Amino acid sequence: MKKIALVTGGTRGIGKGISVALKQAGYAVAANYNSDFKTAEQFHAETGIPVFSWDVSSYDACAKGVETVCEEMGGTVDILVNNAGITKDSMLHKMDVSFWDKVISTNLNSVFYMTRLVIPSMRDKKFGRIINISSVNGLKGQVGQTNYSAAKAGIIGFTKALALESANKGITVNAIAPGYIATDMTNAIRDDIKEKITDTIPMKRFGNVEEISNAVLFLADEKASFITGVTLSVNGGQYL
Ligand code: CAA
Repeated sequence: MKKIALVTGGTRGIGKGISVALKQAGYAVAANYNSDFKTAEQFHAETGIPVFSWDVSSYDACAKGVETVCEEMGGTVDILVNNAGITKDSMLHKMDVSFWDKVISTNLNSVFYMTRLVIPSMRDKKFGRIINISSVNGLKGQVGQTNYSAAKAGIIGFTKALALESANKGITVNAIAPGYIATDMTNAIRDDIKEKITDTIPMKRFGNVEEISNAVLFLADEKASFITGVTLSVNGGQYL
């Protein structure tokens, strides 16, 4: 039987690349999305991957979502990719409380909610792969991103702690820290700032989604069984 992989925020950007790569590698993939129904339908038509809508920043919505995925996919989740994330950039002295709350709940609380829901069955099966998408900006910080950097750094601590808890249960827990990847999210950055950022990347370019999905495939593989608690940077040499 195919292993079941669930990708949050799996119909757009980096998440779309991850969903497609996992499907091509032979996993049964379920892609979560929040509200962009049109894009999700288009993604489904293009890839044949089933899509499931819920807001990962709500525990109750995650619980219902995971239950539906398990019913429809005919089994429990073997590989969870916590990818869903948003930015609400602002200098801290101007940051609205809602910007803080929204980014922390969508990017960090969601990782707890989703993982909390899938890990009991992984422990029963003595197999699981949890792959958390952090960011270079969780490692180094970024002007305008105290909320996002805090959430992405939080993911790294979560990953290390859960890796310890899961080490004797056949479950690996790892993070990937993408650098600047060409997606709608980075496209929204002002052009002058984008140029400045490119200058700080030794490879002098933004990455592409395949460069992240390859790293996910590597960590998802059964053969990656002795790798846990790591944060794998995929960023063109930024912040070495
Ligand atoms: N490094 C150092 N200083 C910077 C900077 C940087 N990267 N970016 C801005 N600054 C400085 C500016 O020069 C300016 O300094 P002064 O006050 O001395 O003039 C100050 O910070 C304020 O900057 P702005 O004038 O741009 O302020 P603003 O309020 O108009 O905009 C902002 C603030 C919205 C945060 C804007 O700076 C911005 O969009 N920055 C980019 C943030 C960013 O990189 N986001 C990444 C999004 S993609 C992502 O997050 C994916 C991932 O994981 C990598």
